Amino acid sequence: MLYYERQSKIACMNKKINRQFRLAARPVGLVKESDFEYREEPIPSLKDGEVLVRTIYLSLDPTNRIWMSDMDQYMPPVEIGSVMRGGIIGVVEESKNQNFKQGDLVSGMLGWQDYALVCSDNVSSLMRLPNPLLAPLTAFMGPLGATGWTAYFGLLDIGQPKAGETVVVSAAAGAVGSVVGQIAKVKDCRVVGITSSDEKCRWLVEELGFDAAINYKTTDLVSALAQSCPKGIDVYFDNVGGSILDAVLPKMNLYGRIPLCGLISTYNASEPVPGPYNYSQILMKRVRVQGFLILDYFSQSHIAIKDIGQWLQQEKIKYALEIVEGLENAPKALQKLFDGNKKGKLLVKVSEEPS
Ligand SMILES: NC(=O)c1ccc[n+]([C@@H]2O[C@H](COP(=O)([O-])OP(=O)(O)OC[C@H]3O[C@@H](n4cnc5c(N)ncnc54)[C@H](OP(=O)(O)O)[C@@H]3O)[C@@H](O)[C@H]2O)c1
Repeated sequence: MLYYERQSKIACMNKKINRQFRLAARPVGLVKESDFEYREEPIPSLKDGEVLVRTIYLSLDPTNRIWMSDMDQYMPPVEIGSVMRGGIIGVVEESKNQNFKQGDLVSGMLGWQDYALVCSDNVSSLMRLPNPLLAPLTAFMGPLGATGWTAYFGLLDIGQPKAGETVVVSAAAGAVGSVVGQIAKVKDCRVVGITSSDEKCRWLVEELGFDAAINYKTTDLVSALAQSCPKGIDVYFDNVGGSILDAVLPKMNLYGRIPLCGLISTYNASEPVPGPYNYSQILMKRVRVQGFLILDYFSQSHIAIKDIGQWLQQEKIKYALEIVEGLENAPKALQKLFDGNKKGKLLVKVSEEPS
């Protein structure tokens, strides 16, 4: 048992400390457990205007890998020695702020730790969850949380699918991709998912209602796309970039749309990644490629929550969660995002939900 696993179990039992993971080193290639440092700090005491939040669930996301790198990005990189950045759902344990009271369920970017003190300047960044919730709390880490909103706005606002069109999505069995495909079905599109195993393909088609799914590890993607998309591709929701994007580009229809959501195939690369090689197809087919960040849509998240909530109730959207038990397992669990060893949304259960 690693030192921090043993310490963390003791800490869990007496609950007197705040367990944290801080960034110890900038990863080279895949993230290693040694890129994090385990620390124990006292639980902070509050001043006027402040709120203390206990973490219940920690979200693990591909963008964690970006934040750990010292590269040009959409937020400042996490500094070496700082608590690792991460989205959480938590409960207000104590409040000296009139806008929050003990027991409120909130989400925010409060990091890889048991407790976070939110100072008065940052309290406005806390998002209060609906009361009553109307769905399990974990759904707010999945389709009703940021990855669900990403699917919703990326597909509907940027992709603009129309009934009868063909929508292809990569990392289709993941948190964002699985919701993208199901929303596209709600909009009466033909939906084709790309993922890494036959079991995930089966899940997409038989349980989530995709029209077809392609295992990119075992199939020739170019011929599989030709077979699954006989009318070409109108919307390609790109979660991965790289060679999958290159295989898709020649199949794009005139005036097709590519919401560029993520480039996970490149996140662990130590050298700049060349390509796409079929870039010319964007010109020939007059394709619109648009990158987007869900941060820009946060103020509209209530719209996504309302629609996705309704589709969940109508069972038009289903979801899977991969829940890892214990903050101590977060560094190792991050690898599941890159080895394809999970379905749906990856999260860590840090403490119990309030009863
Ligand atoms: N723009 C935004 O605001 C925003 C917000 C959230 C997420 N994202 C991006 O959206 C993408 C999906 O995020 P997510 O949270 O839903 O993660 P996820 O899909 O739940 O997990 C990542 C998945 O990516 C696939 N993958 C990993 N390495 C790959 C590689 N080398 N080549 C191809 N596929 C690979 C794996 O699925 P397979 O088994 O299918 O290979 C893995 O399960 C990521 O690129 C992420 O950065 C963007």
